[in-house]
Amino acid sequence: MKGRRKIQPRAKSESSPTKASHPVIGTTGKNLLRGRFKAPRLPEVEAFTASLPFDRRLFRHDIRGSIAHARMLAKVGLITAAEAREIEAGLDEIAREIGDGRFRFAVADEDIHLAIERRLTEKIGAAGGKLHTARSRNDQVALDFRLYLRDEIAAVIALVRGLRATLLKVARAHVETVMPGYTHLQRAQPVSLAHHLLAYVEMFARDRERLEQALERTAVMPLGAGALAGSTLPIDRRMVARELGFRRIAENSIDAVSDRDFAVDFLAAASLIAVHLSRMAEELILWTSTEFGFAQLPDEFSTGSSMMPQKKNPDLLELIRGKTGRIIGDLLAMLTILKGLPLAYNSDLQEDKERVFDALDTLKPALDLVAKLWPRIRFDRAAMRAAAGGFALATDLAEYLVARGAPFREAHEAVGSLVRETAAAGRSIGELTLDDLRRYSPLFGPDALAALNVDSSMRARKIVGGPAPETVRRRLKQLGRG
Ligand code: ARG
Repeated sequence: MKGRRKIQPRAKSESSPTKASHPVIGTTGKNLLRGRFKAPRLPEVEAFTASLPFDRRLFRHDIRGSIAHARMLAKVGLITAAEAREIEAGLDEIAREIGDGRFRFAVADEDIHLAIERRLTEKIGAAGGKLHTARSRNDQVALDFRLYLRDEIAAVIALVRGLRATLLKVARAHVETVMPGYTHLQRAQPVSLAHHLLAYVEMFARDRERLEQALERTAVMPLGAGALAGSTLPIDRRMVARELGFRRIAENSIDAVSDRDFAVDFLAAASLIAVHLSRMAEELILWTSTEFGFAQLPDEFSTGSSMMPQKKNPDLLELIRGKTGRIIGDLLAMLTILKGLPLAYNSDLQEDKERVFDALDTLKPALDLVAKLWPRIRFDRAAMRAAAGGFALATDLAEYLVARGAPFREAHEAVGSLVRETAAAGRSIGELTLDDLRRYSPLFGPDALAALNVDSSMRARKIVGGPAPETVRRRLKQLGRG
């Protein structure tokens, strides 16, 4: 077999902005940067070093950035107003060509920046050759990536908000739905489903804050930094920033072209969101198992087995849990790319984009699908309530004794023996009589039996942040609709 198998061409990015039928790599195209060289590049070198197969995704942002740059060049007199208009019209046309798949990409163009510039010159001639005045691809790519990520972080924030709003809605319907809360995955104390869900609402609130902070650090305008040391030409960086809706500009040209901290910020925030989604997915997998029997997964979200006809598998949830590994991998890859890079720009930085694209392509549908799933899960309130009773009420008994003057450690010990002996006798805590209780402590009175009830147990936990329905309702009111 050796040597027989053909090497498959590199797969195209699934979410390419252009029509899937369009070839990524054309055969024609003259590279714009060969003036210094006698010999052409080896085709394999060209293919290995090109970012065009994936950075085409930045085309709209590249064009937006170039239009702002051209307007600025005209304003400061480096090009004429007529040239700026020609450039702008040409770029608008190119955006349409790429948008509807008519653009002929050639690998010789290396990346989306050179592809667009080459096409612009083909279209409008000499004026096109002026666009790159006082600009380098180093500050250009930093700008494009920030513009792109600014839009995408805003989209992720909207998805996180949407999921939070959904969870709040589901929680509002389950303030009285009792279930066991767990520690060590052992039944611990009764809580409500609403209270449990509000834990995730808190997590996603922090996630949103982290995304907003990442957005803040992404929204800094790098253009004008040139290759690394700016330009001798009288450009106006603040005008470009205003045109593009940036409030801040990068204050150091070296940092401007070499900083990818904002991508790390985003990937770190995305990793934590993925971790939160993964914990949630894991709980839903448990709850919908026959062993737990707390909930039913809707058919539209379940998968069958190729062999076992009875199976209803939670593949979606397992993959949300599994894909967390990709997103954390993207974060680790990004940090690894940056570590040890001398200032300023190095081509290693070209590897930044696929990490961010992959994290976005994984996280966005996961957030969307989980938000769609929640309102359709059917809960078995009776099964949840049954699981919440029994020994999960032991802490309540101990606290009953504390309220009547017993030191907590003694109460803990007494109820511990009660649980051990009751379990050994094959009885449940709910079957105990007052006489049974009194064998463990004389402090037990007739009202102790009433305390042995999941509803009163939950209702009594009304401290701030607790599961009592009145507390949870108050918190729900504070949170509003999300
Ligand atoms: N394709 C490059 C990237 O993604 C653009 C910047 C290239 N600059 C350079 N000096 N080779 O980072």
